[in-house]
Amino acid sequence: MLRFLTAGESHGKCLIGILEGLPAGLPVDFEFINQQLRRRQLGHGRGGRMKIEQDRIEVTSGVRFGYTIGSPVSFTIENKDWDHWRIPMSSVAVPEGPSLRHVTRPRPGHADLPGALKYQTHDARDVLERASARETAARVAAGAFCRLFLSRFDIRIASHVIAIGSERVGDDSQWLPAEKIFALNPESPVRCADPAAEQRMISLIDEHRKSGDSLGGSVEVIAVSVPPGLGSHIQWDRRLDGLIAQAMMSIQSAKGVEIGNALHAARNPGSMVHDEIFYDESRRRFFRKTNRIGGIEGGISNGEEIRVRVHFKPIPTLLRKPLRSVDITTKEPFEAVVERSDTCVVPAAGVIAEAVLAIVIATVFLEKFGGDSMQETEAAYSNWKTLLDRF
Ligand SMILES: Cc1cc2nc3c(=O)[nH]c(=O)nc-3n(C[C@H](O)[C@H](O)[C@H](O)COP(=O)(O)O)c2cc1C
Repeated sequence: MLRFLTAGESHGKCLIGILEGLPAGLPVDFEFINQQLRRRQLGHGRGGRMKIEQDRIEVTSGVRFGYTIGSPVSFTIENKDWDHWRIPMSSVAVPEGPSLRHVTRPRPGHADLPGALKYQTHDARDVLERASARETAARVAAGAFCRLFLSRFDIRIASHVIAIGSERVGDDSQWLPAEKIFALNPESPVRCADPAAEQRMISLIDEHRKSGDSLGGSVEVIAVSVPPGLGSHIQWDRRLDGLIAQAMMSIQSAKGVEIGNALHAARNPGSMVHDEIFYDESRRRFFRKTNRIGGIEGGISNGEEIRVRVHFKPIPTLLRKPLRSVDITTKEPFEAVVERSDTCVVPAAGVIAEAVLAIVIATVFLEKFGGDSMQETEAAYSNWKTLLDRF
């Protein structure tokens, strides 16, 4: 069973991740993991903090001489501005004073107020530090381990931005072929595969940055070479579509998930939605000529590409259009302070969504094929392919 936990506050010493259940003998490419962390930090519309943080992973257990050894993989990612936060984030008591940077003014759209009520604190910093999307750096690192694992079975994952604010690529019903998504220029400032739409998105972000507003948007994530048979219809919490939706919705500011072309499916007759089944004699495989449903039927992967769309709200911190709120101590109204200064995080969110999809697919893959060592997992997978050939 693959299990994964993160810890760490946004301005604490570091982020921590523990990933348990990777088989022994998986080669670990540290440069690949750091490259994924770097990708999370890019994107037109990010604020000043991205220049401070240049994330790098330090593996503290579970990997020896460049290979996993079967024990929990644990790692840290340092927070570069920790030095400025030693006092306000001190784990031992320090004398009261303004340098403690208490937050009594909850920001709308954040966990500040519900978290303060839930944990009964009048200092929303106790909540916002952990609620911050800084946590996603640990998820991207764990996802990178999972991608390394999946790549041993030719499973690859990619994403592209399909909308920022009102600017979008094509319409709901259109699909970009997988090869175009994999060929996305890594330098694309908004991670959009359509150059004309990309320019419109950049202009829209610049416009909103100037006016101090923020923008949301949508990304599409795909996984290719996923074998049929992952997930299951037999129980609600084993359905692959349900697992993916839950994991995607857990990304900070994600507000909706579509498996395949769900919005289009909801608005059109069945004849325009379902993917007919064909058989390829030479490959001895069933296949579809279309993949509108996104590679999952009945909660089980069907062997086609897995396609997921995730929709993100605009970030709640508005630089020059502060939202009204109420101080939790004095109960006086005020206009929400700026804690961070990104304008649009959708390009980064795509990278996070890739990591999240990798974690879910690796989890169901290991659930089906298991194994304490890569040899064992590979043998089980090879056996599965033989069974599919004979089916
Ligand atoms: C990569 C990334 C970066 C983010 N940066 C900011 C930011 O700078 N300012 C902000 O107000 N929200 C930011 N957010 C969004 C908040 O983390 C999120 O809206 C908040 O935690 C509330 O969670 P919810 O929207 O899921 O309810 C970011 C989200 C992501 C995915």
